[in-house]
Amino acid sequence: MLDLAGKHVVVTAGGTREDIDPVRYIGNRSSGKMGFAVAEAARDRGAAVTLITAPVSLADPAGVEVVHVESAAEMKEAVVKATAQADILIMAAAVADYRPKSKAKEKIKKETAGAGLTLELVRTPDILAEVKGNFLRIGFAAESEDLIKNARQKLQRKRLDLIVANDITAADSGFGADTNRVTLIDRQGKVEELPLMSKRQVADRILDRVLGLLAS
Ligand code: PMT
Repeated sequence: MLDLAGKHVVVTAGGTREDIDPVRYIGNRSSGKMGFAVAEAARDRGAAVTLITAPVSLADPAGVEVVHVESAAEMKEAVVKATAQADILIMAAAVADYRPKSKAKEKIKKETAGAGLTLELVRTPDILAEVKGNFLRIGFAAESEDLIKNARQKLQRKRLDLIVANDITAADSGFGADTNRVTLIDRQGKVEELPLMSKRQVADRILDRVLGLLAS
């Protein structure tokens, strides 16, 4: 069913990398599977899709415009550019909240750093909260405790239309897994708890709700 024909969907995926020096970075365990599944599902439902991805080991999906980025700052720049023409932004990426204040020009040597090394970190931009424009905003909330409470707070703080509360406490859900267990919470407060399912099935359930939001 091509129920997203004529819509431009921007999806983010993967975990950003924040450089420490030319060889080291701060990263996270996102595999990109969830974001790629959303991009592929939106494509298969007729949408024009821009997938903005941090480094992952997945092949670029066919029929999707893919933009490769590394850091949160680069992802923000790509999201701002892509959403200038977008109807929907879905942020499945795990974006670093902090980055090293400065990147060392040369590889840091333990001989010069000594017995301990302290990194000074500063905040990265909150892409979802800061990007401006007239499109539907869908966020994820990866939580290891107080799933619904924390997701609701993010929905409000980032002024989202829908948040996908992602339980990351089990091995079959969240980072790296092929399956996922999520609860969808919309701006009206409606809560829909989904059972464990494939990331592709989760993606389609999210897009079903997006269609409802577009119509409301
Ligand atoms: O990639 P996989 O291995 O398939 O795993 C999928 C996933 C667990 C990464 C995914 O389902 C998920 O939950 N993604 C969001 C992870 C996360 O870091 O959430 P958060 O609670 O830190 O951020 C909340 C929302 O704000 C997210 O939509 C995030 O993309 C966005 N954000 C966060 C920080 C930041 N600086 N800018 C942002 O836009």
